[in-house]
Amino acid sequence: MNQFVFSNSTNVVFTYDFIEYIIDKLDDLNVNNLLLLTDEGLSQQQLFKDFYQSLQNLKIPTTLYDKVKSDAQIAVVEEISRLAIANDCQLIIAIGGGSVIDTAKLVNISLTHKDTSIMNYQGINLLESALKPLWVIPTTAGTGSEVSLVAVAKDESSNKKIFFGSHYLSSELAILDPNLLVTLPKFLTAATGLDAVTHAIEAYTASNCNSPITDALCIESLKKLFAYLPTACQDPSNIEARENTLVASTMAGIAFSNSGVGVVHALAHSIGAMFNTHHGATNAVFLIPGIKFNCQEASRFYDTLSVNVFNDKKANHVDLITTIDNLLNTVQLPKSLKSLGVPELSKALLDELATTALVDPSIMFNPVELNLDDLKQIILTAYN
Ligand SMILES: NC(=O)c1ccc[n+]([C@@H]2O[C@H](COP(=O)([O-])OP(=O)(O)OC[C@H]3O[C@@H](n4cnc5c(N)ncnc54)[C@H](O)[C@@H]3O)[C@@H](O)[C@H]2O)c1
Ligand SMILES: [Fe+2]
Repeated sequence: MNQFVFSNSTNVVFTYDFIEYIIDKLDDLNVNNLLLLTDEGLSQQQLFKDFYQSLQNLKIPTTLYDKVKSDAQIAVVEEISRLAIANDCQLIIAIGGGSVIDTAKLVNISLTHKDTSIMNYQGINLLESALKPLWVIPTTAGTGSEVSLVAVAKDESSNKKIFFGSHYLSSELAILDPNLLVTLPKFLTAATGLDAVTHAIEAYTASNCNSPITDALCIESLKKLFAYLPTACQDPSNIEARENTLVASTMAGIAFSNSGVGVVHALAHSIGAMFNTHHGATNAVFLIPGIKFNCQEASRFYDTLSVNVFNDKKANHVDLITTIDNLLNTVQLPKSLKSLGVPELSKALLDELATTALVDPSIMFNPVELNLDDLKQIILTAYN
């Protein structure tokens, strides 16, 4: 067995009543000035309104910001940070998908350091001390951001993703409540679900700190996603399907926080930043082309994953690819960049997209090394 280090510093709570859980916890804590983050869609949901009302009943001074935009945007992070610093917020609670959670992680850097210039903190392992407590409640089952050590932001001025990574970035507490997910529309259920599928596959095959612990998380996560994602899409209020995809997403998040992701994420980041395509839906397009590329040299990783996920000694990477293809058909996700809405790519644009992917931190742990031409070829394969 390889030597490995495995860590997860986030406490994970699964509950069918996140409001009761949080209100009980806050009752013991005597918090002054709480920062509550969400986005405009979620702030209209009844469960969010009930939660906000419960905070008001408790008379906890709360700074509410409910205009977080899709993908953590630098300008939005700076705006919220000014507000949070001015109000001396002591605890952040974020309710939302990956965009809200990543925004909250970045605001926490600024709030703790009383410094709104968030770009000063970009990069990996640059934080030197703990941040303020952050509690997150995911409303999508996909990103794993509730337990991950990273936050991805979009710099609107350069159309590039900016990466922040540190053990100190992860949330203190992740509260999983499947009731929050029943309002998630079909496309987003499918797209975020494929983000989780990609995390589980890329974490299993990644070359960093892979261990029997990450392997087990990836295998169990994939079993749940293959079994329950179609039902979550077809029957949105099916709680069994929602809770299994939600827990699977968190498991994959813990796995990739330890072992990394790979080429599919590198390409999805590059395309997503340029064309504003949804992160999970973009991963879905690149997943099969990425696996096929890696299988030229490293099919053994995908073969052992298939044996374990399908409980079949004869299963191999072809079964994995077929299962993903069938899943994409069932949940009706676009299978090409063209059908995802990406315009025709000029040679210059293709060069730029591949160059961005080549320096993306995700590519570091891909099981096979890639060059610029490999990346261009995968983009072209994924286009039609
Ligand atoms: N930090 C990490 O580890 C990590 C990992 C993967 C992705 N990400 C980031 O996560 C972001 C994507 O997050 P996402 O896929 O969760 O989507 P999102 O947070 O961007 O949300 C997409 C839309 O779904 C709506 N929505 C969310 N939950 C809902 C619910 N329960 N009911 C109804 N509507 C709901 C939101 O209002 C929003 O309009 C990207 O910015 C990506 O880079 C981060
Ligand atoms: Fe992802």
